[in-house]
Order: sequence, then C-alpha cells, then structure tokens
Amino acid sequence: MTALCTAPNANLSGSASHGQDDFRMMFNQDRYLVERVQQYHARHSFASALETGTHKAETTVGLARMFPKVYTVEVDINYFLASKAALAGRGNVVARLGNSPEVISEILPELEHPLFAFLDAHWYDYWPLKDELMLLLSVRKPKLIMIHDFRVPGRNFGFDGYQGRPCDLDFIGDVLPHGECKYVFNDRTAAGSANRGVLFIEHQL
Ligand SMILES: C[S@@+](CC[C@H](N)C(=O)[O-])C[C@H]1O[C@@H](n2cnc3c(N)ncnc32)[C@H](O)[C@@H]1O
Repeated sequence: MTALCTAPNANLSGSASHGQDDFRMMFNQDRYLVERVQQYHARHSFASALETGTHKAETTVGLARMFPKVYTVEVDINYFLASKAALAGRGNVVARLGNSPEVISEILPELEHPLFAFLDAHWYDYWPLKDELMLLLSVRKPKLIMIHDFRVPGRNFGFDGYQGRPCDLDFIGDVLPHGECKYVFNDRTAAGSANRGVLFIEHQL
C-alpha cells in the first residue's frame, strides 16, 4: 500500500482543517483513487481542475488542496448553498450553480490546461456525461478525465446506469475521439470506500 503523498502544487501551510484531512472524504473515501490522481498530477502538473456534481464538496476540498485552481458545478440549489459553506475560505475554488454542460460551455475558454476533470454529475432524468465529454474533448489540449461510477470489466465495483444502460465504454464510445486518448480503469478500491468503478481518459498527455 502506497502512503498518501502530497502533490507538487499542494499548499502545506493550511490549518489542520485544511490539511491531509481534506483528502479523507474524496472520491467516496477511496484513498487509492486519491493516490492515483496525485500520481498523475506529479507527472503532468495539472494547471486547473474541474468537478461536475459538487454535492457536499467532499471531493472539492481535496481538489482545492491538490490543484492551483478548481472549478466545481452543481445544479441543485440546496447542495450548491451547502457546498459554498463547506468551501468558505478556499480562495482557489470557483463554485458555480447550473447545469454542467451549460456552465462548462461558459468557462471552457478560461480552463487552464493541462486540466484534470472529475465527472460525477448524475442522479436525475438528464445525465450530462456525454455532453460534458464532447465539450471537454473538443479542446485538443492535454487533460485527464476521470469518470466516476463507471463499469469496470471483470470487477465487482459499483457503477451507474442511465435509462437501463450501464455507464460503460459502449455508452460513451460514440463521443470518444479515435487515436487521441488512452483509457485506464481503476483496479482496486479501498476498504471502507463506496467500492466504485472509475475510467481515466488521458487526452494527448
Ligand atoms: C454523486 S453526487 C457528486 C458527489 C461529489 N462529486 C463527491 O465526490 O462528493 C452527484 C451530484 O451531481 C449533481 N448533478 C446532477 N446532475 C447535474 C447537472 N446536470 N449539472 C450539475 N450537477 C448535477 C447532483 O445534484 C449531485 O449533487
């Protein structure tokens, strides 16, 4: 088991509540995913991060700790307001209320690359994942996209579905560019986590 390391851009001068604790709840408490993202960050020095589906900002606080600039988008006003409170004092976070593809369209010109994008907006009738992917992949600059709740072949990790279709490579295949990306699944989940599958898409890195 690898010990949690601190990414190059992490701010070490924070108080206890802005310290290593910020990573504890990230990605449904899966510290292997935290380590994985930190390893990618150590290799690629992401300039900014984007999260879709802020919810209670449990992952956002960790992203704010890791990356110089973080954008997070939430469509539900109650979660948005709760997350604003949780993010108070985090000057490097821009929290936006709205439907993720619409907000991404607005902020796309200001997102700095290499970009880390964590796509986790779902639960309702409209699932924005494919629209988010199309927008992000239309910018042909280096990025890492992490899709949460993805079906990982051969593993019993949890995943989501949309109108009876699992969130898998078949579902998103038609929006993926050919020959520009590398695809990697998570291969283990941490004890005590929500045991969720993840797909990493490296775009021209
Ligand atoms: C699984 S939770 C996100 C968890 C959070 N990323 C974390 O790691 O703790 C999904 C969130 O996506 C939000 N959401 C759903 N559809 C959305 C959309 N179209 N745009 C933005 N947020 C959306 C939901 O309201 C909910 O808060």
